[in-house]
Amino acid sequence: MTNLKAKLDETRTLVDTHLNTLLPLPSGKECRVVEAMRYSILGGGKALRPFLILTVSDMLGIHKNNALQVACALEMVHTYSLIHDDLPAMDNDTLRRGKPTNHIQFDEATAILAGDALLTKAFEVLSMSQTHPDAVIRCKLISQLAKAGGTGGMIGGQMIDLIGEKTPLALDEIERMQALKTGALLRYACTAPAVMAQASGSVFKALETYAGAIGLMFQITDDILDVEGDSTIVGKTLGKDKKAQKSTFVSMLGIDTAKENVKNLAQKAENALTCFGSEADLLRQTVHFILTRNK
Ligand code: IPE
Ligand code: IPE
Ligand code: MG
Ligand code: MG
Ligand code: MG
Repeated sequence: MTNLKAKLDETRTLVDTHLNTLLPLPSGKECRVVEAMRYSILGGGKALRPFLILTVSDMLGIHKNNALQVACALEMVHTYSLIHDDLPAMDNDTLRRGKPTNHIQFDEATAILAGDALLTKAFEVLSMSQTHPDAVIRCKLISQLAKAGGTGGMIGGQMIDLIGEKTPLALDEIERMQALKTGALLRYACTAPAVMAQASGSVFKALETYAGAIGLMFQITDDILDVEGDSTIVGKTLGKDKKAQKSTFVSMLGIDTAKENVKNLAQKAENALTCFGSEADLLRQTVHFILTRNK
């Protein structure tokens, strides 16, 4: 069995090398905002979303250089979402990826700009001819990332998350929030390669079902780690959800039932892959990785 941790580390290195070329430091005073972008995006994080893009791209025969462009664009949107999520007006966090959050290391205004700039850079990267030779496909990649990151995706979920601090959400509302704030970008990671490959409807559907299940698993395990993780391993301050009275699967159902839910979702994710053979083994291992993750 391939060591998934090693594969994720390999992805991190590949993505960082490519990000280095996409985010060079300018010489003018604006260099500060690029330093802030590079501070948050380089060298940290599990690189799960880029890993999924590279893995599914490989399954579908997409050229690695094209896949890397999309992987970097998605990691930019993900990192922007984390920088803004940590701001005092949102989760007010001081530790991220094992080091001070962007607004602590720089300042609040720079962190806002760094997030904004990562978001806009992502779309510039997707529009480049190196992303895909066909402009119509590039347009689809752009449109779907805009949707995944927007009010019908990550942003919408973040809004519901904040509303859920003051007003307890019902279980179905929590599930919808998770699907939007975390699920939407993971769904993009699994389906963008299918867009690039112009894969059949059934392949797209299978990947979408898989992504839905791992997306929910990923956020529930994040909420579990907030309760029983080790901050030095997770690289974030823990115990914050309860303090902020966040509505989560854990606050609603308790930790044991939340874990049961994760197991059921793991089964659902694996079932979604039955139409694939051994070429989807890394996706199967990813389910196990999320199920047992400690960071
Ligand atoms: C953190 O995502 C935010 C959530 C969606 C729970 P990750 O846990 O993937 O963060 P990094 O990229 O590894 O830092
Ligand atoms: C945030 O969820 C998910 C995002 C869209 C950034 P959390 O607020 O639980 O993520 P962490 O725990 O700060 O990484
Ligand atoms: Mg949050
Ligand atoms: Mg947070
Ligand atoms: Mg969390």
